[in-house]
Amino acid sequence: MHEAFLINGLAGEKKLEGEIKINGAKNAVLQAFAFSLLFKDEVSLSNVPKIEDTDRMSELLAGLSATVEQTGETSFVVRTKETLNTEFPYEISRRLRASIVLTGPMLAREGEVRFPHPGGCVIGNRPIDVFLESFTAMGATITEDGKYYVITAPIGKNEARKLRGTTLFLRVPSVTATQTLMMAGVLAEGTTVIKNSALEPETVDLANFLNTCGARIEGAGTTTITVHGGELLSGNGKVFQTPPDRIEAGSFAILGALSARDLHIKNCAPEQMDALLYALRGAGVPLEIGPDSLRIHGNSKPNSAFTAFDIKTKEYPGFPTDLQAPAVVFLTQASGESLVFETIFEGRLNYTEGLVRMGAEIKTWDTHRATIKGPTPLRGRHLEGPDIRAGLAYIIASIVAQGESTVHNAYYVDRGYEAIENRLQSIGVDISRISA
Ligand code: EPU
Repeated sequence: MHEAFLINGLAGEKKLEGEIKINGAKNAVLQAFAFSLLFKDEVSLSNVPKIEDTDRMSELLAGLSATVEQTGETSFVVRTKETLNTEFPYEISRRLRASIVLTGPMLAREGEVRFPHPGGCVIGNRPIDVFLESFTAMGATITEDGKYYVITAPIGKNEARKLRGTTLFLRVPSVTATQTLMMAGVLAEGTTVIKNSALEPETVDLANFLNTCGARIEGAGTTTITVHGGELLSGNGKVFQTPPDRIEAGSFAILGALSARDLHIKNCAPEQMDALLYALRGAGVPLEIGPDSLRIHGNSKPNSAFTAFDIKTKEYPGFPTDLQAPAVVFLTQASGESLVFETIFEGRLNYTEGLVRMGAEIKTWDTHRATIKGPTPLRGRHLEGPDIRAGLAYIIASIVAQGESTVHNAYYVDRGYEAIENRLQSIGVDISRISA
């Protein structure tokens, strides 16, 4: 038995209406939980979304002997002990890619870390060579015992194990590697320079907050980040406000374009969503863009009036890979042929098979490229979402489709989106959670 979503589609009609509020960003808050290991006392996190991944991250931290306390509806305090357990809980780490982010602060703090190869969604190979090479460049020694990687920092100036700051070049501008190394640099000896660093806005939020707590990080949001190493940080009285989730906001904007008369998306950061908003506007979606809100307004034309666009996923500020699947649902309804080139992950077009079964005309050329011909009516089907983002894309497709759909693997959607069925019901979607 597992949970699934049962959805009655709108057969292409635009009937949804109302307001939807965007929650804190998964891919900022997971990293914020990780940076709590850089603190000597405690750190408070607010606007934390209630999603499976934050629960798993809390369990991971508890396994490392930190204390995670929920202090309010969306707020948490993480307290660290003088000495932490350096071995990651095996099962949870295997299931959560973000577990890798803990290696940076843990290694920097304790001089040692033991962790299994991190898991997460099956969207590609997801190697960790950039992390390992960088730790080695910072003086660490890496061994593998079949189950765990064991990484040990070199002996530093005062006989304690300490990473050594150095200049790193990231072979690929990995988001989590940038953030992990930035955190490692905060407690390293000397200066760490991270070249070809990721530009994602969440990294800037993390750096800004750490700087208010005593870190010295320069250049976050540019391709070169410089971190001057120092002592453990103090978080007393400081609160990390999790920024809004731009992927959630983007997905709701796509849903609104396809199925809403009038949808007001509140508490978001449109200035971080240029690639998607540019594409939707160009396609003819009536979008009003406010400073912290988006509105799909007067959306009365049929979806076939929208024009198709090509997508090439790229690192920020390019088109986010995490919005590729929902955007493809849009393209099945717009008029014209489009090429989707997924450049970040090689397993992120698998879900198109489900859309094809619903009636979409999608030809997959290889693991990175597909062409879509629209518009095609979609019909309700049984769907099995292969990852978080594809799961939500299937929900959007089911809302657009005619008839009933079951989106299995609700667990994946729950990993990234809080109480999705309640929020969608509030704007008029016929969706319920069932045991299947
Ligand atoms: N890569 C390597 N070696 C490494 C690290 C990455 O080759 O050591 C490659 C990856 O295989 C991929 C590319 O670099 O081809 C970029 O991957 P990146 O490391 O940037 O991805 P990530 O840090 O593992 C984060 C998000 C993902 C999001 C990507 C891209 C978190 C916890 N995860 O992953 O989010 O898709 O950045 O923006 O922040 C999701 O939320 O559903 C999700 C998968």
